[in-house]
Amino acid sequence: MQSAFPEGFLWGTATSSHQVEGENQANDWWEWERDASHLFDGAPSGKALEWWTGRAEEDLARAAGLGQNAHRLSLEWSRLEPEPGKWDDRAFERYVEMLRAARSLGITPMVTLNHFTLPRWLAQKGGWLSNEAAARFASFATESVARLEAHAELWATLNEPNVLAYLGYGGTRWPPGRGEISAALRAYAAMLRAHALAYRAIKARSARARVGLVLSLPVFDPARATVRDRAPASMTDWAFSGAALHALSKGRLVPPLGASRVPGLRGALDWLGVNYYGRYTVEFDPRSPEFFGRRPSAGHIKTPWSDWGEPWAEGLTRRLLQLGKLGVPLYVTENGIRDPRDELRPDFLRQHIAAVARALRGGADVRGYFHWSLVDNFEWAEGWSSPFGLYALDRTTGLRAARPSAAVYASLCRSNGATLPPER
Ligand code: FCB
Repeated sequence: MQSAFPEGFLWGTATSSHQVEGENQANDWWEWERDASHLFDGAPSGKALEWWTGRAEEDLARAAGLGQNAHRLSLEWSRLEPEPGKWDDRAFERYVEMLRAARSLGITPMVTLNHFTLPRWLAQKGGWLSNEAAARFASFATESVARLEAHAELWATLNEPNVLAYLGYGGTRWPPGRGEISAALRAYAAMLRAHALAYRAIKARSARARVGLVLSLPVFDPARATVRDRAPASMTDWAFSGAALHALSKGRLVPPLGASRVPGLRGALDWLGVNYYGRYTVEFDPRSPEFFGRRPSAGHIKTPWSDWGEPWAEGLTRRLLQLGKLGVPLYVTENGIRDPRDELRPDFLRQHIAAVARALRGGADVRGYFHWSLVDNFEWAEGWSSPFGLYALDRTTGLRAARPSAAVYASLCRSNGATLPPER
């Protein structure tokens, strides 16, 4: 059968600044990591993958060597704007070098302006709950696009505002560790406002930039097909991503995110980024604080601190088809699995890429797939204990060793998906 993937489809991996660069001392995460009890294995980001000090180029060459033609990376706001309104020319120059290196390797970059970490000067004012946050972000976004637009066309404003809102503001595992649901909802709404402002500001400055937003879009299914389970499942889905998707298409915040129009939000989307790791099933439980739903976790990829859900490729097809109604191109901006021994990843990759192929055949406008991640990296509160890489990292020597799944992915990238096993 002919490949479902159109010519020019982007095949890549995804990374983020704090997880790979090393020594990002001026952001909120660096400070958070000083307390070892905030990290599952007690191991902070440290020198990470040493991208800042020169190893980005070498890893990008690895990606190109595996047949990848794209890479999603992020900018570190705290490096580029170390003090409010002061820009660091040398830091911008380093990103120019990385983006040039990518281009010269035949790699199309997708640049995320903010992947979770905030400059400490903004975190000290309350982070996303600060009145200044949206305007500050829009100015950082415009400055970055203005300086780097010759090197990248695809821009994402924010990565997973929903995950950051619920883990950092609703929960206590990520900075700022507020632990209040009301703070989570305010931060989430603030990030949507910041997206709208940044989108408009970037578009006014650059005719070339194609600007999107990246959301975490797991599937929440009722454990049984009963009204009792369906209600908490759909409430969870709505609070996690449904209300944001609604806001993006209608330009209005609705409960629980708020009840107001957001200036500039409607239509502020040239494409949507879909981060998909798995599904959660939800059971009615009147004692649960989470919308009367409990999430049993048998078969999930999880650690005592994190739960990426049950790997379920069909959910990705479903999501991509559903999102078609937004009427914008879609990118799978993250998809991957915590799998230290690479036992599950080869099949996970094949199945999820087959799921993208099914969505394409069903009419979804999917333009690219970015696997999380290229090399094992600093996995937030998990520290270094949750490897997602196609390459395994030896933290003492810095050596990267290709796992078997690297070759599986390479063959799919090189053949533009034609080497997928035939559908039964
Ligand atoms: C996503 C994050 C990414 C990485 C993966 C495993 O939620 O965007 O940085 O940590 O999970």
